[in-house]
Amino acid sequence: MARVALVTGGTRGIGEAICKGLQAAGFTVAANYVGSDDRAKDFSERTGMRTWKWNVADHQATLDNVASIEAELGPVDVVVNNAGITRDGTLLKMTYEAWKEVMDVNLGGCFNTAKATFPGMRQRGWGRIVNIGSINGQAGQYGQVNYAAAKSGIHGFTKALAQEGAKFGVTVNAIAPGYIDTDMVAAVPADVLEKIVAKIPVGRLGHAEEIARAVVFLCSEDAGFVTGSTMSVNGGQHMY
Ligand code: CAA
Repeated sequence: MARVALVTGGTRGIGEAICKGLQAAGFTVAANYVGSDDRAKDFSERTGMRTWKWNVADHQATLDNVASIEAELGPVDVVVNNAGITRDGTLLKMTYEAWKEVMDVNLGGCFNTAKATFPGMRQRGWGRIVNIGSINGQAGQYGQVNYAAAKSGIHGFTKALAQEGAKFGVTVNAIAPGYIDTDMVAAVPADVLEKIVAKIPVGRLGHAEEIARAVVFLCSEDAGFVTGSTMSVNGGQHMY
């Protein structure tokens, strides 16, 4: 029986590429989303993968929806915490709501899905959790105290949970993408983005599939000895 993988924020951007990569690697994939129903429908029609709609920042909704996925598809052995949002602005302009929303979705979402799935993985003696961090959690970024703090928190969360899962066959790793050609990066003002791309040694934005391939490796049997690591996939922009 194919193992079941849950990908949060799975119907677009990096998440969609991860879903496709895991599907091609033989997993049965459940894609979470919270925004557009039309996009989710289109995603399912194109890929054959099913979707579940909830906000990963909502603890109880996460527990309930993971229970629903497990009832329909079987135990979740793989979780990719990809759901993330930006609410950029300098500290002077950032509201408390913009701080809290980013912390609750980007970092709180990782806690919520882990609470829903880690106990079962530990009990079954096999599991893979991959958390999508960011170059901006490693290096910081002007105008992103919320996002950088949440992504940096993901890197700490990963190392701590990796220690709790290691003895039980559950690996926990992070990927720190650099600037990838998604809608999120397209929202950065063009003049600012131009300056950022000029600092990427590889000389271009990354592609979502380049993140997906790293995720697929970390979810494979071959990666059983890799845990607590952060893999940077950033075109050399930040060598950490
Ligand atoms: N370093 C130093 N100073 C900077 C700066 C930087 N990186 N960026 C802007 N400034 C300065 C500007 O030069 C300006 O200075 P003056 O007032 O002296 O002219 C001042 O800061 C204000 O800048 P803005 O006019 O741009 O201020 P704003 O409030 O309109 O916008 C901002 C600020 C929202 C942060 C905007 O600059 C921005 O969107 N920056 C991009 C942030 C970014 O990279 N986000 C990443 C999104 S993608 C992502 O997060 C995915 C991932 O994981 C990589």
